[in-house]
Amino acid sequence: MRTPSSRRLMGDTLISDTSLLPVHVAIVMDGNGRWAEERHQPRLFGHKAGVTSVRTVVETAREIGIRHLTLYAFSTENWRRPPGEVKGLMTLLDSYLKSELKTMLKNDIRLHCLGQQDKLPPGVQKTLAKGIDATAHCSAMTLNLALSYGSRSEIIEAVRALTAKCLAGELSPAALDEDVLSRHLSTSGQPDPDLFIRTGGERRLSNFLLWQISYAELYFTDIKWPDFGRNELLEAVADYGARQRRFGKTGSQLQQG
Ligand code: FPP
Repeated sequence: MRTPSSRRLMGDTLISDTSLLPVHVAIVMDGNGRWAEERHQPRLFGHKAGVTSVRTVVETAREIGIRHLTLYAFSTENWRRPPGEVKGLMTLLDSYLKSELKTMLKNDIRLHCLGQQDKLPPGVQKTLAKGIDATAHCSAMTLNLALSYGSRSEIIEAVRALTAKCLAGELSPAALDEDVLSRHLSTSGQPDPDLFIRTGGERRLSNFLLWQISYAELYFTDIKWPDFGRNELLEAVADYGARQRRFGKTGSQLQQG
């Protein structure tokens, strides 16, 4: 059973028992707008501050040994926001990708995109493709940016591809199982998230990785994304480390090994 010994993560003492670390952390970065409004600033001010948290969280995750980090940066529903906010977010994303490429290479971080890349502005698509290509050989951590992402449409895309394979006689419907479906999602080849974090006080999933987070531990915090930094990530990871994941078994079954 996991014990609160993972509290060692707090402060600057990093975890020594890596079995207590989530392999894959997925984050809904919520609360930028409200954070800005509290400061009587436009929403974009909050998104700009949010980029600083993105940098800190990516750096900390890499440092403590998280192998996959998925950040929900823009949902399919976010296109409905005022055009000025959408444009501002795309500009921030583009400049983040340009400015971080060197650091990603130095830190051996592979960039990957989940979502409808073709819906992004051409300039962002180009920058993203360049980053994905340049970091393809990196292997210490995968950074998944979910952009124009929606879980239901991702699942529909997978079902479409699988149906086409069945109709073409390349796949037997009887051979269709959870692994096959997982391999047709945009997270193909990556383990499912162990820890799902949502900042900003809301307690919902918002169409994020619905298939993949089936067994994830859920962690909700009232802290708004621009205030979520190194200590807040360490605290979430420590909380995860203190939980018992049973995957349907009983606690005593797990203790017996
Ligand atoms: C949700 O907060 C946040 C977003 C829709 C965008 C997240 C974007 C960033 C953190 C910056 C750009 C990303 C990268 C990867 C460089 P909200 O605006 O819905 O906040 P609210 O609920 O308080 O209104």
